[in-house]
Amino acid sequence: MEQMELTLAREQRANSNTVREPATGKNIECAGKLMTGDCVGRLRELADASAQLVVTSPPYDQLREYNGYSFPFEDIAQELYRVTADGGVVVWVVGDRIRGGRSLTSFRQALTFQQIGFSAHDIMIYQKKNTPFMRSNAYTNAYEFMFVLSKGKPATFNPLKVPTARHGMELLTHNKLPDGINKKKLGELKKEKTRTNIWSYAVGLGGTTRDRIAFQHPAVFPEKLAEDHILSWSKPGDLVLDPMCGSGTTGKMALLHGRDFIGIDISAEYIEIARQRLEMHGLKVEVEYD
Ligand SMILES: C[S@@+](CC[C@H](N)C(=O)[O-])C[C@H]1O[C@@H](n2cnc3c(N)ncnc32)[C@H](O)[C@@H]1O
Repeated sequence: MEQMELTLAREQRANSNTVREPATGKNIECAGKLMTGDCVGRLRELADASAQLVVTSPPYDQLREYNGYSFPFEDIAQELYRVTADGGVVVWVVGDRIRGGRSLTSFRQALTFQQIGFSAHDIMIYQKKNTPFMRSNAYTNAYEFMFVLSKGKPATFNPLKVPTARHGMELLTHNKLPDGINKKKLGELKKEKTRTNIWSYAVGLGGTTRDRIAFQHPAVFPEKLAEDHILSWSKPGDLVLDPMCGSGTTGKMALLHGRDFIGIDISAEYIEIARQRLEMHGLKVEVEYD
């Protein structure tokens, strides 16, 4: 099949949106597309090195019943490597089945990504502020991994910041000597610092999202999580991809921030949920059925 040209001429696009990019207040043109089908086949339709960022969460360890389920992990990983641009990033949000012990599917997948050629740029933690998974003989599980895989060195990194507890001018320790006497010097403490790689989100209605329609899908991830990665690893005009897009969380945040978006899901029902959800936010998307 002929590979799809992702960056269609903007004036031709019925799926073109003009959004006010929250960070800058500037109007940005971006386009969205949803596709039904197995992501391996759909990814094969996309051109090499065409996506700057992938934010996705796969089904894992057959924990849930989705509508139509197929998960050829290695084929997906290979295709993701091919479609990722040089300097592009894949954020793979995954946990383990815990039944007795942990399945360690997450680790196996991370190692496979590395063997394929991705750099394990970071292994981040998505901490769930509520609804933790209780165990009688181990500590309560409250996290999933966010594997940040890059193709070469990440081309974009906009570090998200948090306010510091103390800031302003203070007498700071300076030139500490072996005699234990600390010299002090007036210096400025910064107002903010780069976040750590542990990110916490509330989950459930109001936390994950306020879009009630999204909960027709059984495993939505927080839209703030998608937003934070989109802001960190991409810039306006980039293409963000979610090959298992479910209720369209990544798409919503990508388009609201002026990134182009392609979402794929094996379930036509979930693609319809995603379409309606994006439409609720005034975001136009083209839908292509397999
Ligand atoms: C964990 S959910 C993703 C949820 C999404 N992040 C959200 O916020 O709504 C995984 C999705 O993968 C889809 N899926 C499973 N196998 C697939 C395949 N081979 N190709 C495309 N989608 C697939 C399922 O239908 C399901 O919607």
